[in-house]
Amino acid sequence: MAEVTFDYQNLTEVEGSLTSRELSEIEPRLREAVVELLQSSPGFMRLPKTNEYAEASVRLAEEIRGSGATDFIHVGIGGSALGPMAVHRALDHPYHNQLPERSGPRIHFAENTDPGTLGAILDVADPASTWVNVVTKSGSTAETMANFLVIRGFLVEALGDFGYQGKTIATTDPEEGFLKEISEREDLRVLQIPPDVGGRFSVLTPVGLLPAAVTGLDVEALLAGASQCVDEVEEQGAGHPAVTGAAMHYLMDTARGRNVRVMMPYADALERVAAWFVQLWAESLGKDGKGSTPHGAVGTTDQHSQVQLSMEGPQDKVIEIVEVEEHPRDLRIPPAYDDLEGVGYLGGHTMAELLNVECDATRKALTEAGRPNSTIKLGSVSEENLGYLFQALEVQTAVAGSLYGVNAFNQPGVEAGKQITYERMGRPGY
Ligand code: PA5
Repeated sequence: MAEVTFDYQNLTEVEGSLTSRELSEIEPRLREAVVELLQSSPGFMRLPKTNEYAEASVRLAEEIRGSGATDFIHVGIGGSALGPMAVHRALDHPYHNQLPERSGPRIHFAENTDPGTLGAILDVADPASTWVNVVTKSGSTAETMANFLVIRGFLVEALGDFGYQGKTIATTDPEEGFLKEISEREDLRVLQIPPDVGGRFSVLTPVGLLPAAVTGLDVEALLAGASQCVDEVEEQGAGHPAVTGAAMHYLMDTARGRNVRVMMPYADALERVAAWFVQLWAESLGKDGKGSTPHGAVGTTDQHSQVQLSMEGPQDKVIEIVEVEEHPRDLRIPPAYDDLEGVGYLGGHTMAELLNVECDATRKALTEAGRPNSTIKLGSVSEENLGYLFQALEVQTAVAGSLYGVNAFNQPGVEAGKQITYERMGRPGY
C-alpha cells in the first residue's frame, strides 16, 4: 500500500487563510469537476490499470539490460523528459552512472539543445553498446529531433549506416508523426505513447516506464501506487485530499492573491519531482490570463536561499512541503567537539533526523509568521509512493483546470515560439 498523505491544516488555520465558508461555497463546483474527470476518464486516469505499456517496457528493458549495454540515452524534452528524470533522481542511486556495480547501463538525458550537454554525453557513451530512446509524442519537436540527428550521426560514424538501428527505440504516437514514419522507414523498435495522454501526463506510459525498467526499478509498483490513487479518487470524489487540494490552491490564488505555489521537498531525491510538477501545473493551467506560478525548492538547501522571502517577503505564496518519514538511508553524526556548544550538540543525532527536524521547524516558523503552508507526507521514497504522488498531482491539476475554467490538456502558448523557430531554421512551409 502506498503511504502518501496530505495535510492542509496550515491553509485553514493561519491568519488570513481560507475560511470554512469559502470551502463550502466551492464544494459544488469541486464535486462537479471530479464527476467530470471521472466521467470523461481522460487517458492518464486509465493508465495505472493498463498493463500493456508496462509489459512492453519491461520486455524491452530486459533485452537492453541483457545485451551488455553500457549506455542508454533518453532523448526528449518537456513532458517527454521531466517524468523519467524525476523517477531516476528519486529512485536510482544518485551516482548511478559512476557505480561499478550499477543496475543496468549508464543513463543519460539529452533534453536541452545545449551542445555542451549533448557533447558531454557523446564523450562518455560507447557507441558500440549504446541504446538510444527517442521520445516525442508529436514526432517532430525540434529540440528532440536535433538531439536525435546528432546522436544518430555519431553512431553512423562509428558503426556504419545501419549500425544504430537495432539499438534505437522510437517512443511516439502510434498513429501519426515524423518519428513514426522514420521508425517504419528504418525498422526501429517502437513503444507507444497513447494518443489520449499528453506529454506532461505521460510519466506512467513507456515515456517513464522504459527508462525506469532499464535501471531495474519496479514499474509494476509505480503503477500499483497510481492505481491505488485512482481507486481512492473514485471512492472519495471531492473528499479525496488531492481533489480538495485543487480547491485550496485555486482559492489561495484567486481569493487571496497567493499566486505563487512553492513545492519544497525535504529530500534531494525529490528535487526533480518538484521540477516535473512545475511543468505540469504551469503548462496545464497558465491560460487565458489565469493560473498560479509554480516554483521548485528543496529543503534544507533553500532555507539558506529562499525561505527569507517566504517568511517576510510579499504575502503572495503558498509553501507546499513534501516530507519523507523514512529516508532510504541514514548516517549517524559522530560525537565530537563536546566542549564547543555550537557544534558538539549535533553528535549522536542522525542526518535524517536533522533533515526532518528542520522540515518541521520551517513549517512551524512559517505557520507562526502567518504564512500559509501545506504538507504532503511520503512514508518513504519508493516506487509505490511515487506512483501515487504522480497520479494525485495529475488529478489535482486536472481538477484545478476545471475550477479555473481552462483546458488543462493543451498548450497553445508554446506554439508561437515554435513557429518562429521553424521559420528561422528553414522548415518547409513556415
Ligand atoms: O506536456 C506537453 O505536452 C509538452 O511539454 C510536451 O511534452 C513537449 O512539448 C514535448 O513534446 P513531444 O513529446 O511531442 O516532443
